[in-house]
Amino acid sequence: MKRIVLAYSGGVDTTCILIYLKEKFGYDVIAYCGDVGQFESQKEKERIKERAIKAGAKKVIFEDLKEEFLKEFCFPALKIGAVYEDKYFLSTALSRPLLAKKLIDVARKFKADAVSHGSTGKGNDQVRFELTFRILAPDLKIIAPLREWEFSSREEEIDYILKHGVSIDVKKSSPYSIDKNIWGVSIECGVIEDETKEVPEEAYILTKGKLPEKERYIEIEYKDGIPYKVNGKKMNPISLIMYLNKIAGSYKIGRTDLIESRVVGIKSREVYEAPAAYILNEGLRELERMTLQKDILHFLPVLRNRYSDLIYEGFYFTDLRKAIEAFFDSISYRLTGKVKFLLRPYSVSISSRSSKYSIYKKELSTYTKESKFDQKWAEGFLKIIGLPWENK
Ligand code: ARG
Repeated sequence: MKRIVLAYSGGVDTTCILIYLKEKFGYDVIAYCGDVGQFESQKEKERIKERAIKAGAKKVIFEDLKEEFLKEFCFPALKIGAVYEDKYFLSTALSRPLLAKKLIDVARKFKADAVSHGSTGKGNDQVRFELTFRILAPDLKIIAPLREWEFSSREEEIDYILKHGVSIDVKKSSPYSIDKNIWGVSIECGVIEDETKEVPEEAYILTKGKLPEKERYIEIEYKDGIPYKVNGKKMNPISLIMYLNKIAGSYKIGRTDLIESRVVGIKSREVYEAPAAYILNEGLRELERMTLQKDILHFLPVLRNRYSDLIYEGFYFTDLRKAIEAFFDSISYRLTGKVKFLLRPYSVSISSRSSKYSIYKKELSTYTKESKFDQKWAEGFLKIIGLPWENK
């Protein structure tokens, strides 16, 4: 029997695909479910596992990828300051190459000759999955049923699933399409598609609820561009991000509303929530401004934007991505220090910072008589830089 590995989420699309791959193509289906922080509870995972088996999966594999996802994908992007079109922390985009790589590993282990995913022909996720397959395992066959099958609505898919005796939550589900992981939430569809309308409060996941009454301070410590302490307490990557998502999320910090440029050439409106990523990024960029020389600092946006594009467009497994990371790794020792933030509803500001690599020198910048900057130096300096314009 031919074998295929499917990126399974437990939702309507991928459950329908699971049944379809077996029925139409005669595949033995291995359902792979990578946990990047999308699940609410253990119970939810069990329900999904049961559903996959009911839908005919030969094998269901759950794997906890949260730590690997943060350490290998999100933290490098944070260190670099990769924010697509200045607003999107790439939470969905960063998870795809990891999931695709894991699908390949499973395919190799169980000698499958094909892989499948539930991304649509209009989106970016198909690009990220398939470029990873093409780059790392060009021999594997790729099946993307959503692009080619006969179903034209969600209702038809649900009918097909129910007809095969699989139960699925058909209660009026959310009008939004949501992709969630530990790094952030991406929300699209429903009323969000109308760019002239405000995003309704009900659309949010991490930043909903009543705002705290009091403002509050929080201090984050970074080493080599990586956060590792909050309010003086050492935390592992998962707890640190979950904690910051909770605290910064309660102030509704890290929301963005973006009309973005998709790979397939269209603009779409997407809403993102990334409270932890937002605040961590503000802090790191602040350390950069204080610890990096101007020549490097002003050079970074070029690499930062190129890196964001690579991630967004699915070119994760490329030499250019690794080379840009290596560049940032070579300067990130300077991104060591502490930043104190003030959290208020919808905003975070920096209240103080310190670093042993700081090149801010008060004795040079002060206007008091302690100043070590001799103002007479400026005269000759200005004479020379103005010279070309005197001689026109
Ligand atoms: N536009 C974002 C991206 O391309 C998010 C896609 C989210 N997917 C979803 N099913 N809502 O990365």
